[in-house]
Amino acid sequence: MGEFENLKKRTEELRAELDRHARLYYEDDAPEISDFQYDRLMRELMEIEEKHPELAAPDSPTQRIGGAPREGFVKVAHAEPMMSLENALNRDELAEFYTKLGEALSDESPEVLCEPKIDGLAVSLIYENGVFTRGSTRGDGQIGEDVTANLKTIRTMPLRLSVPVEGTLEVRGEVCIDKRGFAALNAAREENGEPLFANPRNAAAGSLRTLDPRETARRRLKIYLYQVIEPEKYGVKTQQRMLEWLKELGLPTQGGDRLCSSLEDIYAYLDEWETGRFEHPIDTDGVVVKLNDISLRPLLGVTAKAPKWAIAFKFPPEEKLTQIKNIEVTVGRTGVLTPTAVFDPIRLAGTTVRRAGLHNQDEIDKKDVRVGDFVWVRKAGEIIPEVVRVEYEKRPDGTEPFKLPEACPVCGSTAVRLPGEAAVKCTNSACPAQVKERIIYFASRSAMDITGLGEKLVGQLVEKKLLSNYADIYSLKEEQVAALDRMGDKSAQNLLAAIEKSKSRPLGAVINALGISNIGEKTAADLAERYNSLDVLAEKSREAVEELETVDGVGEIIAQSLHAWFTEPHNIALLDKLRAAGVRFEQEAKSAAAGPLPWNGLKFVLTGELSGMTRAQAGVLIKERGGKVAESVSKKTDFVVVGENPGSKYIKAQSLGVPVLDEAAFMAKLAAADSGDWPETAETAEN
Ligand code: IVH
Repeated sequence: MGEFENLKKRTEELRAELDRHARLYYEDDAPEISDFQYDRLMRELMEIEEKHPELAAPDSPTQRIGGAPREGFVKVAHAEPMMSLENALNRDELAEFYTKLGEALSDESPEVLCEPKIDGLAVSLIYENGVFTRGSTRGDGQIGEDVTANLKTIRTMPLRLSVPVEGTLEVRGEVCIDKRGFAALNAAREENGEPLFANPRNAAAGSLRTLDPRETARRRLKIYLYQVIEPEKYGVKTQQRMLEWLKELGLPTQGGDRLCSSLEDIYAYLDEWETGRFEHPIDTDGVVVKLNDISLRPLLGVTAKAPKWAIAFKFPPEEKLTQIKNIEVTVGRTGVLTPTAVFDPIRLAGTTVRRAGLHNQDEIDKKDVRVGDFVWVRKAGEIIPEVVRVEYEKRPDGTEPFKLPEACPVCGSTAVRLPGEAAVKCTNSACPAQVKERIIYFASRSAMDITGLGEKLVGQLVEKKLLSNYADIYSLKEEQVAALDRMGDKSAQNLLAAIEKSKSRPLGAVINALGISNIGEKTAADLAERYNSLDVLAEKSREAVEELETVDGVGEIIAQSLHAWFTEPHNIALLDKLRAAGVRFEQEAKSAAAGPLPWNGLKFVLTGELSGMTRAQAGVLIKERGGKVAESVSKKTDFVVVGENPGSKYIKAQSLGVPVLDEAAFMAKLAAADSGDWPETAETAEN
């Protein structure tokens, strides 16, 4: 055998091995080799393919690694519109659907297939002669976004069908993240100080619609197919057969479906899923009921958005009754007293829940929640526990309305509620609880990023009086730290090294670390960029409050907060200490960009949840292109970028006739700006 033949054989071996190990890892949860060994095999294959492009193949496992990030998504028109489904919010609405189905078909008990409804993101996949060539999101139903590179990173999605299908085959289904992957992803984000995904759907959407496929590859997404376009071409006559055929092609289907031919059957299926879903590895938010016989579907027709031969039954969020044993009050960094209900443990959406935040006095008054009350608890987005309402009929005798204390539960100082604010605050800025929380915030990742200085250690240091404010961190001695519980010489050394390193954090991070009310990571970065000096910022805050308001995102409240903070003598002393310790107070001004930027002079407002990025990240993308980001919509606003669940800004934009961009349009605009498709002004931009 020649050298080339040998290589070809090795390539095939490697591909088969890599595919097998991917299956063991992702599908069977039973890996036989370590990640390291897997990476080594992958690298070997990549090297061969790089040297011998003639051996490369579109379905090679190397295609799953994810290419370089791109500038924006390319638009894809769907050959057949990607429709959505009508919802049935209760069993009566479902019964109505089933009756109508029967009437239209003159059949009292039409056969329907019930399938679990996956809480994910709809996608379309195209296979040409059995090879995956393109995948796209639903978008607006007519036009979606090309997410081929990101989809290829999903390990369970075949790049080649196990049975070759001639010509173009389009299949559709749902991309989602399993519950374990979701929990792991949010845990990592919490650790990194990044915003958490509210639910698995958002996590899947955010992961699939990122411009960096390498990021998608890290997220362990799953895909399940449930639809074949033009099934008659393949002799597929029923929904049940469709699912079987998808499986025969090697495409993952989620299973759990059942044929039903009466309302009773359907209800029995719902009963099972209503509880069974919590044991299911993937988040499901309902059941889809579809007319099984495909040839009869045209008799029912479609509405503008959804076919009438199917319906989605949505599960109501699970609620449980429990008794409140106590309402705990804790004190945060800014002195805010936060009430939390502590109750008898209950199982909710798969986990045990013992506590739920009650937010503030107004919320407590509105629901009239008292210690001893029986309350209904549910999880918002299946994640965050909340008290929905009190079961007043079960209220025991002798309960009293709950009032937040007038004295701080930690230091005993007066706690007050300032006019116009919802929060009750401890007035003593030296309160140990506040001191501790401020130090924890100072050391956190988005601030000074001091690894190792977490909650427990700060607690000990404050208790032992080694720290009474965050500037004291820079006077800690190695032997003091080494003498603490569960600290050795090595960890003490590491901590001191991390403290030293923090002195050169970026100026924005230092401003954020100060813990000034109403100032978070983003505003701190904007202030740093504007003034390039902490001393200049301090000076402006004391003397020129109005000027501050010309900084992005700074309004009257923030300007007042800055003024109050920088004129307070304790804080001035803190600044002196930080300066003396050598913490960064200055940064070099960014030189003005070379040449004009595509969005110079354009004003954007962001509202709602974007799936591919946070609003702060979108703001950075806008500013990098010369645009401005404002907090409120006015006639001067050029574009309002609208994510999911937008706020009143969306309504205001519509009433003022300000052009609105959804996330897809925003991404397209970014791509256009970067590809040189500008200059563009608000007048020339499409609405
Ligand atoms: S069938 C033309 N089946 O839920 C109808 N959809 O709320 C195509 N979904 O748009 C949809 N699981 O994104 C279908 N087993 C399932 C599903 C499912 C989840 C999604 C899909 C759909 C949405 C409707």
